[in-house]
Amino acid sequence: MAGIEVPRDLDAVLDAAWAAARKVPGYLVEDEARLLGTIAACVPAIGAIVEIGSFKGKSTVMLAKVAAHYGLGSIVAIDPHNSPELLDHKADPAASSYKDFLRNIETAGVTDQVEPHRAYSKDVATVWNQPIRFLWIDGDHTYEGAKTDFDGFISHVSPYGVVALHDALNVFSGPIRVFVEDMLRSSRFGAAGFCHSIAWSQFRPEDGERFHAQRAALERVAAPLIPFVEDDEELHGLTKIRFKLKRSRVPRKAISPLKWASFLDDNGS
Ligand SMILES: C[S@@+](CC[C@H](N)C(=O)[O-])C[C@H]1O[C@@H](n2cnc3c(N)ncnc32)[C@H](O)[C@@H]1O
Repeated sequence: MAGIEVPRDLDAVLDAAWAAARKVPGYLVEDEARLLGTIAACVPAIGAIVEIGSFKGKSTVMLAKVAAHYGLGSIVAIDPHNSPELLDHKADPAASSYKDFLRNIETAGVTDQVEPHRAYSKDVATVWNQPIRFLWIDGDHTYEGAKTDFDGFISHVSPYGVVALHDALNVFSGPIRVFVEDMLRSSRFGAAGFCHSIAWSQFRPEDGERFHAQRAALERVAAPLIPFVEDDEELHGLTKIRFKLKRSRVPRKAISPLKWASFLDDNGS
């Protein structure tokens, strides 16, 4: 893989994208949003940027702003927009995040940069037939949900593309288990890391073995979190303290675009 070109204006583009995305309700923090923008702008692969789980459009706006600036094509934004966990269906049986999503992408000026699929990811996966450069998984956080998303789309991820999962360091069973079992333990993946609660890795089916030591080091600190979250139940008392202690061993600081780009080809040897 040739060295990655980091656009000279990327920091300014990320600033502007975050200025728009921060106004959208959601759970993404600034460091995470900047990493998503960095991946979108720099990933050295061909294909679409696919987002599973859009909610009101916070990450969609971040990605779309960056994509618009660099001419990267539309963000494929998949969400049925009817999550019972996130919306008050008891108060309003017709509750949906779709109207807010459409309004927020319009306010951010990126409507033409987004291709919404109001559908469950598994239904889109069955008909999907394009290469993917960046697969961003932020939908159903159960193990079954995250695994279905990974399995449904991974065969379309281009070599050197990136897969990232949100909430891998929060109390959800899916993202961390898929990251450890299907990515860190797989010689088809290369450089990997965490930023805040995002777990990411580069898909390198040809030479991922070169990154074994780096993935294994991350696995050693990440895998012990899995038993704490397997029930998707809130943690209390001593269990919560033990979880946080183990989680503190996972490196997850923000990473600059230049560092991220050089890290992609650094196998730690
Ligand atoms: C945590 S929110 C996404 C947040 C969003 N990425 C942001 O930046 O604000 C999770 C979203 O995933 C959606 N979702 C849940 N299951 C899904 C599935 N099987 N396919 C697609 N989306 C799903 C929910 O409707 C919800 O809007």
